[in-house]
Amino acid sequence: MRVVIAGSSGLIGTALVATLRGKGHDVARLVRRTAAGPDEHEWDPPHGTITERALRGADAVVNLCGVGIGDKRWSGSYKQEVRDSRITPTEVLADACVTYSVPTLVNASGINFYGDTGDRVVDESSPVGTGFLAEVCRDWETATTAASTAGVRTIMLRSGVVLSRRGGMLDRLRPLYLLALGGRLGSGRQYFPWISLDDEISAIVHGLENEDVSGPVNMVGPAPVTNAQFNSAMARAVGRPAPWVVPGFALRAAIGEFAEEAILTGPRAIPAVLEDTGFVFAHNTVGEALRVSVGR
Ligand SMILES: NC(=O)c1ccc[n+]([C@@H]2O[C@H](COP(=O)([O-])OP(=O)(O)OC[C@H]3O[C@@H](n4cnc5c(N)ncnc54)[C@H](OP(=O)(O)O)[C@@H]3O)[C@@H](O)[C@H]2O)c1
Repeated sequence: MRVVIAGSSGLIGTALVATLRGKGHDVARLVRRTAAGPDEHEWDPPHGTITERALRGADAVVNLCGVGIGDKRWSGSYKQEVRDSRITPTEVLADACVTYSVPTLVNASGINFYGDTGDRVVDESSPVGTGFLAEVCRDWETATTAASTAGVRTIMLRSGVVLSRRGGMLDRLRPLYLLALGGRLGSGRQYFPWISLDDEISAIVHGLENEDVSGPVNMVGPAPVTNAQFNSAMARAVGRPAPWVVPGFALRAAIGEFAEEAILTGPRAIPAVLEDTGFVFAHNTVGEALRVSVGR
């Protein structure tokens, strides 16, 4: 299979490129800088340009673009950047899939599509929630419409927090837990959607290789946990106590709006499409995922 990947330098992209190449697939990267080799092709998402030969003959495009949602405090301009860095590249790639007759588009999205669901279980048939992140996810998914309307098999990856020591949230939390500074956040009753990096990558490959996967796909482990349960599992994984409680008001004051949407609330999501299409998880519980993630 010839797979073209955008946003390939990040946590998920780096692991996906390695896995696909390991399986013998031909992988090309779209890069927003000068191409450094024959497997790289330049593109400029804000200007809508892609090196012409990049997508010719491709079997699939995987789009993993976007600035980190928690990298900076959410100012108006940063929120705009969070939106633009996802929606514009998606529109460009959806159009390009149509132009170059690419049969499959796999596009990143987020489990925050559902907003805060409290104890209510949500699957891919559940409606969009409320809040900035839910709106971004909705518009990000809508940006693939040109492709799906033209008959391109389009998959939207509604990912939970991808657990890996190589980057993302776990990479930031791990040093705190190693110093026994871990603890539950707010009430601890909010759900913490998670998936191991290994399963995230395997599930993307599952989507690429299975024609019966299309539309939104919840990329979360099969056993949802609350923040308090995640905290206990982290403490066990690093072998240190995590007795602290960080009150919600302190998190809101320190981090702002991001704390409310991404830390103090969360969806209780299950991976219905993955399970219905025969995906087998390597890590079924957050404890299993953390055991392989915190030590790497
Ligand atoms: N990791 C998670 O826990 C998680 C959870 C839910 C959703 N997701 C989503 O999945 C996607 C990939 O996640 P990740 O963890 O691999 O993210 P990441 O490590 O932050 O990488 C994202 C990539 O996006 C590209 N990018 C950065 N700024 C951009 C901009 N302004 N315009 C266009 N592209 C830009 C970069 O790739 P290049 O420099 O190669 O272009 C970057 O390496 C993201 O859209 C993310 O929101 C991730």
